[in-house]
Amino acid sequence: MSATTVHDRVLDLLRDPPAAPDTSAGYLDLLDPEEERAPSLAQSVMESTFLPQIYEKVWRPIGFNIAKGWPIGPGTAAEQAMTRAWLGLGRPGAADRPAATVLDVACGPGNVTRALAAGVGDGGLVVGVDASATMLGRAVADTSGPEVRPEVRYVRGDAVDLPFRDAAFDAVCCFGALYLFDDPWRAVDSMTRVLKPGGRLTVLTSRRLGLPASRAGVALLRRATGYTVFGDREVTRALTERGYTRVKQRRYPLMQAVGGTLPPR
Ligand SMILES: C[S@@+](CC[C@H](N)C(=O)[O-])C[C@H]1O[C@@H](n2cnc3c(N)ncnc32)[C@H](O)[C@@H]1O
Repeated sequence: MSATTVHDRVLDLLRDPPAAPDTSAGYLDLLDPEEERAPSLAQSVMESTFLPQIYEKVWRPIGFNIAKGWPIGPGTAAEQAMTRAWLGLGRPGAADRPAATVLDVACGPGNVTRALAAGVGDGGLVVGVDASATMLGRAVADTSGPEVRPEVRYVRGDAVDLPFRDAAFDAVCCFGALYLFDDPWRAVDSMTRVLKPGGRLTVLTSRRLGLPASRAGVALLRRATGYTVFGDREVTRALTERGYTRVKQRRYPLMQAVGGTLPPR
């Protein structure tokens, strides 16, 4: 598949395709510099030039694996295998991988995006969307070469108000980011809107310890940094309220994975 065809396929997925698409940085940039708001402290770190350089190999495995309770909890490879299974994708290299259209929300440097791509067969497309130009720069640099099949493309856009049309994707994934959004539930609405009937959503996010003092601490943390910590039932309830079925959850010490399926029409 030629690069032009893949870019065309991404444009076809957009709610409001630009007349003159800007792909000069290797990703489709849909954010208007005039409309950019001051980021929270947590998001400022994501937009630095330093973090994308160490994110995938150092920050992500150390931070996330500790939060998931490694070595008892899953390491990165086990997390990726579970994600592909929950999203209905195939095993890397398997002949029966689906030609699915998948969205990775808040893709950062593309680490999860590439893991999803390994579970998609010929004709599939995995789109990573993120607001950070430095993260996307790294994602583009690290997603090249003939081994990346099927095609992966990146879009600079807002996860809370996704730029894609309704029912555009077979599967949507949002890892390590729901806690950074100013309005996480609007983001879940947006992810639900872009999923096809019968499509699957999986989220990996923060988890609050059940300690008496933790509610006050969590509120303070959110005010100071913009980081939200979710209770055990908040994310599962959000999916159930939006009509998801087969809602499942894995709880780790400081994180939770939640998945669900939209009913077929
Ligand atoms: C910790 S990284 C997660 C990367 C990857 N998904 C993972 O699981 O390792 C969080 C990402 O969320 C992005 N992000 C935060 N708020 C966003 C928003 N409103 N729209 C798009 N991306 C956002 C940040 O730019 C950052 O790249």
